[in-house]
Amino acid sequence: MQNRPQSSASYLGIGSTLEIEPIPHGIKGKTENGFFQITVLNPHILRIQASKSDFFYPNPYSVLKVDTESDFQLNETQTGITLSTTQIKLEVTLSPFACTFYDKNGNILNQDDPLGISWIGTEVSCYKKVQKEEKFIALGEKTGNLNRVGQAYTNWNTDYFAYGTGDDPLYMSIPFYIGIHEKGAYGIYFDNTHKSVFNFGASTNRFMYFSAEDGEMDYYFIHDQDIAGIISKYSDLTGKMQLPPLWSLGYQQCRYSYYPESEVKTLAQTFRDKDMPADVIYLDIHHMEEYKVFTFDGKKFPDPKSLIQFLKSKGFRVVVIMDPGIKVDEKYQPYLEGKSAGLFVKYPDGDEYQGQVWPGWCAFPDFTNPKTRQWWAEKMKFYTEAGVDGFWTDMNEPASWGQFTPNVIEFDFEGEEVSHRKARNIYGMQMARSAQEGSIYQNQNLRPFVLTRSGFAGIQRYAAAWTGDNVASEEHMLAGVRLVNSLGLSGVPFCGFDVGGFAGEASKSLYARWMSIGAFTPLFRAHSMINTKDAEPWAFGEEVEEISRNYIKLRYKLLPTIYSKFFESSQNGLPINSSLAISYSLDPKIYQTAYQNQFLFCDRFLVAPVESTKEITKIYLPEGTWYSLYSDEFFTGENEIYIDCPLNYLPVFVKSGSIFGMQSERSNTSEIHDGILHLHVYCSNQAGAYLHYEDDGESMGYLKEEYFMREITYSPQQMSMTIGPVEGNRNSSYKKIRVYLHGFQTDVVSLNGQSFSLENENYAFLEKLTEFDPLPEHEHPFYEIKALPFLEIDHIYEPIILSGLF
Ligand code: NOJ
Repeated sequence: MQNRPQSSASYLGIGSTLEIEPIPHGIKGKTENGFFQITVLNPHILRIQASKSDFFYPNPYSVLKVDTESDFQLNETQTGITLSTTQIKLEVTLSPFACTFYDKNGNILNQDDPLGISWIGTEVSCYKKVQKEEKFIALGEKTGNLNRVGQAYTNWNTDYFAYGTGDDPLYMSIPFYIGIHEKGAYGIYFDNTHKSVFNFGASTNRFMYFSAEDGEMDYYFIHDQDIAGIISKYSDLTGKMQLPPLWSLGYQQCRYSYYPESEVKTLAQTFRDKDMPADVIYLDIHHMEEYKVFTFDGKKFPDPKSLIQFLKSKGFRVVVIMDPGIKVDEKYQPYLEGKSAGLFVKYPDGDEYQGQVWPGWCAFPDFTNPKTRQWWAEKMKFYTEAGVDGFWTDMNEPASWGQFTPNVIEFDFEGEEVSHRKARNIYGMQMARSAQEGSIYQNQNLRPFVLTRSGFAGIQRYAAAWTGDNVASEEHMLAGVRLVNSLGLSGVPFCGFDVGGFAGEASKSLYARWMSIGAFTPLFRAHSMINTKDAEPWAFGEEVEEISRNYIKLRYKLLPTIYSKFFESSQNGLPINSSLAISYSLDPKIYQTAYQNQFLFCDRFLVAPVESTKEITKIYLPEGTWYSLYSDEFFTGENEIYIDCPLNYLPVFVKSGSIFGMQSERSNTSEIHDGILHLHVYCSNQAGAYLHYEDDGESMGYLKEEYFMREITYSPQQMSMTIGPVEGNRNSSYKKIRVYLHGFQTDVVSLNGQSFSLENENYAFLEKLTEFDPLPEHEHPFYEIKALPFLEIDHIYEPIILSGLF
């Protein structure tokens, strides 16, 4: 018995270090039961790898090639070795091998539990001590609370129709979390595509851990002073969202499915007739013949090109659905092509894998094969020639009836040739990538728009994401907000949920409230399931129609700010909808279930989503001072307040010190505005800034500096505003600016050094002078309205805006 070999079913720790040697960017070594390598990527990011063999098979898809840094110090200690950058000190204990991460002041950020890095058979885990009062956030598209303590999650991309608000796993996996405690914060990205688990203390009070069914321990430890810094560093690793076309930030209307073409035309016309701004109409699976991708149903859509031309003339873009399953049909060209070129997923004996989806039995393109991606990109010509502008990659987990894809099937995985166990989680992201590459391949100067259901870490580089088949319920509406906030914490800024709920039917009030929340969501798209009642903004009666119109219009008026924020986000990786855990991470109140859904939209608007059934709600305003968006009523932060929330007023507060830009109403983003940029400034004793960004909204020209950008700052000491120098080679589309001061108690203000006495100013005079001239040296006079509430402003100068119910 005693000489029995260790069972592969029991724990195997990495053990004591036997050999250790410096390498150009870190150290590597051998332990009793494995091999390890520690790499310094830069002062903020360390990579820890461990394997049972001395060969590593890293995930080729998520982490971008990043420059490694050799500026670090190695020192021997009594128990091991320390590796220090200017930001992190890693102490490696040698017997057994274990890691403790400190900040530059010597505070422990994160520490291995004695069970450390270990294996149970092929399952690889890393056990970590939980720090005092430690909170865990992020992990992508995961249900549950903002603070994930006490919960455990699985990463295994899953097609889950009408999922419950506590169910897991869903469609997309992002194995990245952030730990927050009194001594600091850090992020860990576990770069392993196998099915993985993150347990933040479910059924155990000893540790948290992350593990994967197979593959290596390969994680990146990220530290920065604040949560925003950590997310931004994570996005340096896995990439940033590319600036999307402006039209994709407008309102999007979807249904499973709009057909035939007369219905689509009527839909478009109704938006215009009803003065309801909108930019996008989706064609779901009924646009196809027998659900075959790269076809149009000849009866329902006899002339797609003319239809799309008609829609364009009304200011609409068309997004088509693309499912991965290719119908097995010997008369269907894409099937024949894919089969003869060996582009489909196969069994190990070379037989084609087939599963059932909408078209019946299907073959599945192997998107982990670059040749397949290129083939798919070429096939997309079918759509772009018809005038399609955007692509919706659905069912790409990949989904198939039965929901149990056999693990034995094989994928190219950039030449590594791996089973479904390693490839499943990455499949959807590679399909989205192929769609993005296809869109660019077909129209090189146009920015792509791809919307995906499935994805993995890094998906933000290729597509926007939506949270799949939600349900028309109050609970789901709020859960969707948390999913979007969590995706934002995990590097995916451009995301949204099906407004109104996909499965089931929304009540009037639920739909109205959902629309108002949707207006403050990066992707603003309503969608509904086949065989349910109509779910367009006018389908629920006049009151709901009016509320929907008001909020959609508000969204369009805010587009200068939203688009500017998207630009910033494409540069720094930060979310559009920011959980309060980003700026107020140490305030315990924001994690309470009553407040955990609140978020900052575009860094300025605190949105408090609330059920449609409530007339009054409790809100927590964190540190700082806040103004009601609708009345300019002023509130001091670090306070719980009760606020009325009738259906037509979603509680929204503007952070003091904010500056943001608005424009005139537009029925769609290609319609020209009236040339006036409305700048709103909210008084504060803190400085504020707004980076105003413009470009042509759809071409790649912005990559060659064809944009217009100015930073507008506010300084409380001198009551002054400065409109900074112009960057970029484009002229602004605005000819005038009007500045609205909220909450100011002063008589004199200054703009770019020039003083203005507020009492003597007169609207016409100022309007004449407020040219938003692109020349940097030009002085911009200043126009002021003292403490005029938001709505009054609109009533005075633009009486139609936010009228009616407000
Ligand atoms: C599943 C998607 O999640 C849903 O949005 C879509 O409408 C249906 N597939 C039909 O294509």
